[in-house]
Amino acid sequence: ATQHSYSIATIGADGIGPEVVDASVQVLKKLVELNGSFNLSFTNFDWSSDTYKKTGKYIPDGGLDELKKHDAILFGAVGAPVPDHISLWGLRLAICQPFQQYANVRPTKIFRGTSPPLRNAEHGDLDWVIVRENSEGEYAGQGGRSHQGQPWEVATEVAIFTRHSVERLIRFAFETAQKRPRKLLTVVTKSNAQRNGMVLWDEVAVQVAQDFPDVKWDKMLVDAMTCRMVLDPKSLDTIVATNLHADILSDLAAALAGSIGIAPTSNLDPTRQNPSMFEPIHGSAFDITGKGVANPVATFWTAAEMLTWVGEEEAATVLMDAVEAVTERGIATRDLGGSAGTKEVTEAVCQELEKVY
Ligand code: NAI
Ligand code: MG
Repeated sequence: ATQHSYSIATIGADGIGPEVVDASVQVLKKLVELNGSFNLSFTNFDWSSDTYKKTGKYIPDGGLDELKKHDAILFGAVGAPVPDHISLWGLRLAICQPFQQYANVRPTKIFRGTSPPLRNAEHGDLDWVIVRENSEGEYAGQGGRSHQGQPWEVATEVAIFTRHSVERLIRFAFETAQKRPRKLLTVVTKSNAQRNGMVLWDEVAVQVAQDFPDVKWDKMLVDAMTCRMVLDPKSLDTIVATNLHADILSDLAAALAGSIGIAPTSNLDPTRQNPSMFEPIHGSAFDITGKGVANPVATFWTAAEMLTWVGEEEAATVLMDAVEAVTERGIATRDLGGSAGTKEVTEAVCQELEKVY
């Protein structure tokens, strides 16, 4: 039998990024060794804010072409001490935008054995996938500043919405909802106040919905949506929103479910012309860098999402079951109320994998 082999580019970048990416590579290597039906090779790219400080660039000349040779990218986090708008645009968006990773997929759930901040909610009550538009909105880079430093200074951040991008993203969201058991989609906008771009979203949703008669869907304004997430989490399943709105809603989702230390995100090019990029939703967490206490679970889940995307869904399920078996045993980092370190959680997941095979 031919053995599938996938080449994975790893970019740990800043802060706890390299710590959680290293832990995930360790777990993935263990999984491959035990499973034996596919192979992964890893190439590390040391692009970070340190590189930027030394060379003035996050990505060296020709770097994107190198990256493009890989099947997927496993990313850590970028940010500080370089100013955030420079680090974000210099590395993360510098990959997402040229690679047309227009769908940002952010699942959230309550892990077995954890007690979430959302009172009265338990495992199974909150199981969402947020689909975030990842190429335009307020993050398209349109706008400018004039008269800098003057009392009459002006700055604009223009939100861009094109029918092309809105349509492909809403279609992707309907497909995502269709693949899940509940076939339930909530389209989030703010079409009462933002009367141009958001009204376009509403109209496109109505049109695309006609191609998905088996998906139930409803609409929410983003402010009311925050209330519904807290008060009625069971009423939601798949959620689609703009770049800015979904950025905020997905952090709220992660916090409601347990911790920002457990949630993954996939930056997908659904056309598969470019590699997709997988990362935890948290940042570089400088307050805990180097202390060995970063929760690696978000990046383990990220790695599982990556396996599913390249076509190794079974191995992804095994990995997630191992991670939940560990949380269920109460082996958790401080952000989840436990006392374990990154290394203990990583080793416990490897042990669980050994039990499976
Ligand atoms: P953050 O996510 O880095 O940290 C927020 C809080 O959550 C901190 O108290 C941190 O210790 C905790 N935390 C985060 N991840 C954790 C983990 N795996 N285990 C345990 N605790 C964890 O967000 P913050 O502080 O707003 O940003 C720090 C830097 O990261 C900034 O420069 C920001 O721009 C950058 N950032 C980068 C992102 C990316 O690369 N995609 C995403 C979010 C922030
Ligand atoms: Mg965010």
